[in-house]
Amino acid sequence: MKPLLSVLKGHKPDVMPLWMMRQAGRYLPEYRALRASCSGFMDLCFNPQKAAEVTLQPIRRFGFDGAILFSDILVIPAALGQLVTFEEGEGPRLAPLFDEAVLSHLQKRSDFSMLSSIYETVERVKADLPSHVTLLGFCGAPFTVASYMCAGRGGDEQLAVRKLAYENPVLLQQLIDLIVDASVDYLEGQFRAGVEAVQIFDSWAGVLPVLEFQRWCIEPVTRMISMLRERVPDAPVIYFPRGVAAGMETGANCISLDWRTGFQPQLPITQGNLDPLVLLTGGVALDRAIDQIKRDYAGRSHIFNLGHGIIKETPIAHVEQLIRRVRYVG
Ligand code: CP3
Repeated sequence: MKPLLSVLKGHKPDVMPLWMMRQAGRYLPEYRALRASCSGFMDLCFNPQKAAEVTLQPIRRFGFDGAILFSDILVIPAALGQLVTFEEGEGPRLAPLFDEAVLSHLQKRSDFSMLSSIYETVERVKADLPSHVTLLGFCGAPFTVASYMCAGRGGDEQLAVRKLAYENPVLLQQLIDLIVDASVDYLEGQFRAGVEAVQIFDSWAGVLPVLEFQRWCIEPVTRMISMLRERVPDAPVIYFPRGVAAGMETGANCISLDWRTGFQPQLPITQGNLDPLVLLTGGVALDRAIDQIKRDYAGRSHIFNLGHGIIKETPIAHVEQLIRRVRYVG
């Protein structure tokens, strides 16, 4: 079996399989060149030929064990009828959702057929993938997706969605349920097209108090995973609740730990959690941090990864240093 997939099934490898969050992206010159040929970031996400090429770029250059579909978590708000654009160098901009009227307006404009181009990207990647590489699909977790839908952007610790959770929990629950249903269909479509495992990104999970975290993150993600497994039995799932270190039970096979979280011996299957900043720094500090993860997780089911996405200024040479060090058996 492929090394990354076998770890998700509980195998304990001698050499940890390796991939990096945001491994296809702006630190790569070949990504920047291709990106310059697209009118907008969302156009790239919905262009199967170009998105497949971008997915494969880091695989060709570095030989990672996992390829992650090139897309974005914000294709779900787009399919739900919200206008999503990207400000150059700033990030996403959405028309914010704040009341029932906006939600019902969106529902009338929902169009899930736009996701079929992403399934085509999966098929194209699968056809060109080296045989040892595991193809990963993904989506955002409902709370994180809702946080962008409500605030219209990232930043300021997603105050809009947190305020809505207290002011109008009925509306937030409706929105979360809508995202759950759309995301399960979307993940099922990715599996049918050829992904072998999926990651659910909950990048804003860490802003919530513990009871709110249970209600708005754990409950919907648990529901998503069990709905998905009714349609795709035994679907391997990685959950990434950024900024959280306890109470993460959702039925996911693997928890992706962020860079602040220490060794978690109670979790049977893990992924992570090198600080992206130490990869940017390189040198002895990078070697030490890699060795620490190798020591902590030796003999366990662990996938080597960053604790969040790679920073765009990261030198290619540091990524090469990381790969040599992770794979070196001394
Ligand atoms: O290589 C991969 O990891 C696969 C592709 C991928 C992207 N976004 C491409 C991307 C994945 C898995 C994502 C997930 C994603 N998107 C998350 C969850 C993970 C995380 O980073 O916390 C979130 C919150 C988003 C939403 C999003 N997309 C933001 C906030 C931004 C702007 C910030 C930034 O880093 O630019 C994006 C843009 C984005 N998504 C880029 C890429 C390569 C850069 C856009 C560009 O090329 O101009």
